[in-house]
Amino acid sequence: MTPRRPLFVANWKMNGLHADGIARASALAGHTAGGDCGGDIVVCPPATLLFALRAVFAGSAIALGGQDCHAAAEGAHTGDVSGPMLVDAGCTHVIVGHSERRAGHGEGNEEVAAKAAAAHAAGLAAIVCVGESAAERNAGRALAVIGRQVEGSLPASATPDNTAIAYEPVWAIGTGRTPGPADIEAAHAQVRVGWERRFSGGGEALRVLYGGSVTARNAGGMLAVPGVDGVLVGGASLSADAFWQICQAHR
Ligand code: 13P
Repeated sequence: MTPRRPLFVANWKMNGLHADGIARASALAGHTAGGDCGGDIVVCPPATLLFALRAVFAGSAIALGGQDCHAAAEGAHTGDVSGPMLVDAGCTHVIVGHSERRAGHGEGNEEVAAKAAAAHAAGLAAIVCVGESAAERNAGRALAVIGRQVEGSLPASATPDNTAIAYEPVWAIGTGRTPGPADIEAAHAQVRVGWERRFSGGGEALRVLYGGSVTARNAGGMLAVPGVDGVLVGGASLSADAFWQICQAHR
């Protein structure tokens, strides 16, 4: 099997006004112009910055992604952004099912799968997020939850080319706490089990990312865990230097 090319995704979440967003993106583009990190890089800024960053990243190795998309292509959905709008703004990727949307906006697996299907229909690659809460882990249910989320959140249109899955334990997001290597390895293996159950195989090329308190300091260890094909980075991606270090940490 050909090795899976690492995927590094920056999720800026709701951070960045025009000037500092441009500055951070320009700094990152400058880093990539000076050398190839050997992986794919996607930056997902707030929707307000997409058009501006498209210009900054033009001609660079950095791809642009949205942080969410609606299941419909257009219509009466105040405040939402659709897949075709993201494509129009220069995106090739979109995150769906992030735990902050599952918890803060009541999104369940079915809605996440509908959003991923809409992303695929628009020609976007979907980065589908799954991960257990602290209570679920403490109750010994982490792997069962992960498997169920993977199976339930993937639409029929998902292939390893148009989909990556990010394992982000809710309790590790923004907390500085991370699972140990054995727990990450088991979770990523479970993601693959979920894919295999959903599609009866064919997932060898699927990239499974780890997310949750990834830093320039711990990224190398995360990326060395078997089955970790990249990282989804929140807080540390708000520094172009730190994120670039993370992109190089697999070497
Ligand atoms: P942090 O890297 O800030 O923990 O966030 C992880 C995350 O939610 C990325 O989507």
